[in-house]
Amino acid sequence: MALIETINLYYRYPTSDKWILRGINLRINRERVVVAGGTGSGKTTLLRVISGLAVRVYGGSMLGEVRVEGRTAYVPQNFDLYILMPTAREELAYILASQGLSVVEVEAEIRRLSDLLGIREVLDQSIMKLSMGQRQRVAIASALSLRPDILLLDEPFAHIDPRGALELVEILAGVDATIIIAEHKLRYIGDLVDRLVLLEDGVVSYDGLIGEIPTLSPDIEWPLKLILGDDC
Ligand SMILES: Nc1ncnc2c1ncn2[C@@H]1O[C@H](COP(=O)(O)OP(=O)(O)OP(=O)(O)O)[C@@H](O)[C@H]1O
Ligand SMILES: [Mg+2]
Repeated sequence: MALIETINLYYRYPTSDKWILRGINLRINRERVVVAGGTGSGKTTLLRVISGLAVRVYGGSMLGEVRVEGRTAYVPQNFDLYILMPTAREELAYILASQGLSVVEVEAEIRRLSDLLGIREVLDQSIMKLSMGQRQRVAIASALSLRPDILLLDEPFAHIDPRGALELVEILAGVDATIIIAEHKLRYIGDLVDRLVLLEDGVVSYDGLIGEIPTLSPDIEWPLKLILGDDC
């Protein structure tokens, strides 16, 4: 169970004077997908629609269909604002205990997640003292503590350096879930994702498997440059 299907999906925020997503048809099933596109093209909005936040939190109107089978977890771009507890251990314990896990289960899950995300050493440090990259890992650990079938990440490479980005790619490669990443910067995730969906002004302008994107010249480091220009 990790299927996302949108059929002729339109969405607008309550204050929008036009449709932001316009006729999106996507079927994503147990894949890792990057949703790329320029500023304002609708990447974040699409993640909000898939996570259910768009209509439930932002309001607005929707046409067409969205079918999501499986549990979603969404890590927003400003994940920092959503960490509520003073330390990562407390944050994770709070979320896990809220799901009804016993004390022993909570401890085991914290161990598993902190090992997966490489945050074991900082579990008891003040969140305020952690680097952006470390806080992001706490946010991703929190999302994974919900045992999602579908993990949605909004611009996860925005706040981290190239080394952190490569480490994050490795971590995400070990996550057993459908993953959808909204991202401008594509150079780090070529090996992680199976598929590229390109949005332009709320419309899917390209949708294809990464392996099928043509490489015209071996000199071109990353073939998506052909599609996206230098933006990637
Ligand atoms: N809460 C909101 N209320 C009204 N309009 C919004 C809201 N959030 C986004 N928009 C508008 O929806 C459009 C798509 O924005 P969105 O944030 O989805 O784009 P994006 O592709 O994620 O851009 P970026 O690369 O800058 O993150 C933009 O015109 C934006 O101004
Ligand atoms: Mg965005």
